[in-house]
Amino acid sequence: MNAARVLVLHGPNLNLLGQREPGLYGRHSLAEIDAALQTQGSQAGAQVQCFQSNHEGALIDRIQRAPDQADGILINPGGFTHTSVALRDALLAAALPVVEVHLSNVFAREEFRRRSLISDIAAGVVCGFGPQSYRLALEALLAHLRG
Ligand code: DQA
Repeated sequence: MNAARVLVLHGPNLNLLGQREPGLYGRHSLAEIDAALQTQGSQAGAQVQCFQSNHEGALIDRIQRAPDQADGILINPGGFTHTSVALRDALLAAALPVVEVHLSNVFAREEFRRRSLISDIAAGVVCGFGPQSYRLALEALLAHLRG
């Protein structure tokens, strides 16, 4: 198989990682997380492209282009996880394998965070391990793509 291409998407407020509620989300910046994913990807012979937006439409535009550019999507939809039918629809339309990832354990927090509009259409979900969630999620997505 050619090098697997993974699109990593980060939703709203994840640009603030490192400063935002560090007790919950940790002290690593998004740039550090992206750099670690790039390194992990190249060690595994995969291409990793990362994109963050605070805007639902920008994330949807990126997902709509994904089928031409990626084999799988790793997404932390942030708050849109719990609200966005449109993001779910875009992922369904793209029809690529998706792994949903969260830094925090969304099941151990407020009730409204236990509902995800993405989980049931994802190949799998990783949450609760801080930045390590991303590492585990990329490893799982690459294994899933290799079949
Ligand atoms: C989050 C969990 C969401 O509930 C929250 O809105 C976020 C971050 C996480 O990574 O733990 O923005 O997706």
